[in-house]
Parts: sequence; C-alpha cells; structure tokens
Amino acid sequence: MSQENSLEIKNLNIEYLTRSGTVHAVKDASFSVAKKETLGIVGESGCGKSTTGHAILKLLPSNARTKGEIVYKGRNVLTMPEKEVRHLRGKDISIVFQDPMTSLDPIMRVKDHFLELMRAHKPNVKEEEVIQTASEALEAAGVSKKRLDNYPFEFSGGMRQRVMIALGIALKPNVIVADEPTTSLDVVVQEQIMEVFRHLKKTKDMSIVLITHDLGIVAELADKVVVMYAGEVMEYADVYNLYKNPLHPYTQLLLKSVPNIKIDDMELHHIPGSLPDLKNLPQGCRFYDRCPFAKEKCKKEEPPIFKVDKREVRCWLYE
Ligand SMILES: Nc1ncnc2c1ncn2[C@@H]1O[C@H](COP(=O)(O)OP(=O)(O)OP(=O)(O)O)[C@@H](O)[C@H]1O
Ligand SMILES: [Mg+2]
Repeated sequence: MSQENSLEIKNLNIEYLTRSGTVHAVKDASFSVAKKETLGIVGESGCGKSTTGHAILKLLPSNARTKGEIVYKGRNVLTMPEKEVRHLRGKDISIVFQDPMTSLDPIMRVKDHFLELMRAHKPNVKEEEVIQTASEALEAAGVSKKRLDNYPFEFSGGMRQRVMIALGIALKPNVIVADEPTTSLDVVVQEQIMEVFRHLKKTKDMSIVLITHDLGIVAELADKVVVMYAGEVMEYADVYNLYKNPLHPYTQLLLKSVPNIKIDDMELHHIPGSLPDLKNLPQGCRFYDRCPFAKEKCKKEEPPIFKVDKREVRCWLYE
C-alpha cells in the first residue's frame, strides 16, 4: 500500500444471500482514500453505497458475503478477526450513520455513549478523561458540553447527528465514513451539519468517506469522487474534472440539468428508467437500458475499467 493512502479498496465484491436469490450488491469496486482526502461516493438509491461503506468497518449483516480487500495499515479488514476489527472501530476508522435516532441508545446519556466508546479501547478509562475527550469532540461538532448529561430524546434530529459526529471524531480516527449524514434532516439543519464537516476538513487530519445523494455537497467538499451504479464503480475521478467533463454517460446524466449557478441545490437528476435487478443482472453493461449511447457491444459484453488520463471509467466508449 502506498504511503499516502489511508485506505485501499481492491476488487471488492459483496453479495447478500436471500431466500429469493443472491443480490449482487457490489461488484469489483476498487478505489483508495488518501490521507486527509475527502472521497465522495454518489449514485442512486440501491446502487451499493452503504454496503460499501459498512464493509469498511465490517458492519455488514450476517447474510452478506465479501471478497476482495479493504486494506488499512497493510492489513485486510475483511479477513481480520472480529476482535481486532473492534479495536479499529472508533479509534482508527469510525462511521456516522444516516439515522442518528437508531444509532444512539435512548436510555444512555450522551456521556455514557462516550464512556462506552472509550472503554472499548481502554477498559479502565477515568471519568475525567471521558469528560475531557467528550467535551472537545462535542465542541468541534457544535454541541455544548453542558449537554453531556442529556439523553438522546432531549435533542433535535440535527443535534443528535452532531452528537454522532462527535462520537465519530472523539478518538481522532484516521478515517471517518459518513453515510448520508444529512439525509434525514431538514434543509436548514443539513446546512449546519455540512458546516461541521467543512470545519472538520479544515481543522482535522482525517480522511472522510462521504456517501451522499447530494452532488452539491460533493462538489464542495470532496477531492475525489466514486460514481456507483448497480453495484459497480462507473467513474472514479478527481472532483474538478468529474464536474467539468464527466466521462461516463451515467455521470453525465446525473449532472445534467443541475443548474450550475446554484451549486448548493444539486439533487441527483432523475434519470428515466430504473436500476437493473441485482438478483438477475444483464449480461452486458448494467447501464445499457438507460444509456443514450448504448451500442450492440454494450448489450453483450460488460465493460471493464478504462483509464483515461488519471481517471477511471467503466464504459466501452473509452475503449
Ligand atoms: N441485508 C440485506 N439483504 C439483502 N439485500 C440487501 C441487504 N441490504 C441491502 N441490500 C440490497 O443491496 C443493494 C444495495 O443496497 P445499499 O443499501 O448498499 O444501497 P445504497 O446505495 O446505500 O442506497 P440508498 O441510497 O437508498 O441508501 C440494494 O439492492 C439493497 O436492496
Ligand atoms: Mg445507503
């Protein structure tokens, strides 16, 4: 693994076994996250973003099967024993989930959440140290330390998400995975949470994996972007070139009709048609049905990744 990468994902494949068949949720995904870099993962609902994000911390449900590598500090997280992964969680890599209500324990005070987190890594941690660490993290996330004794239900949705972020950064991890951290919040609160991330990006030495539907947020915060479709990385590029000159037809459609004067209101453009059935995938390109440039070959053969300058694109147009 190169020195400057925090995380390297190599040929990641994830399937879910279900009664009605195998869901091919992620296929052959490869990308890396450099130190201090913010990597955006975008794509429509159901294309495998959360599955990829959760795999990074080995938090997939028991019906998931993984192949490939997620390399952190020279080791593959996917094959690490659970006990060792537990040491990474929170301390080396942390995750902020989409819904802050279900990820905080309603009968535990904010302070107790920090205590539990810190105890997992240091069993006889002192209360003063917990309060000190929690206060700093809460402050960085915009929550007063006076609220350490409050319960989750005493907070608004936005405040709960700030507490989640504070828990995510408390042990100064190298990587934080944020899975749609603003989706369940209203627009004003979304903006406040983004402000917290802007601040983190500026002041902390963390790499951020930012999973989102919001192309405006990605344009503003990400250095690099992974565009996923039906479980595959369709385009992987630096943010500037991706927005200036999207190569994959899917990326082009996602960015189409985004009014570029109003960058903070870039919802994913609705593309006619729908994702293929992940239990019953087509033989050729997964985007074939919806692609304005589809040709005969696309129907028959699945495109590999092509390198175009320093970018990667999974499309026969770049053969
Ligand atoms: N536990 C599970 N068992 C079976 N299939 C699952 C499971 N979890 C997710 N899936 C399926 O895997 C695919 C990818 O889901 P995933 O949640 O990763 O998508 P996503 O890109 O995060 O979508 P969203 O934007 O809606 O959050 C979907 O088809 C989903 O239905
Ligand atoms: Mg998701």
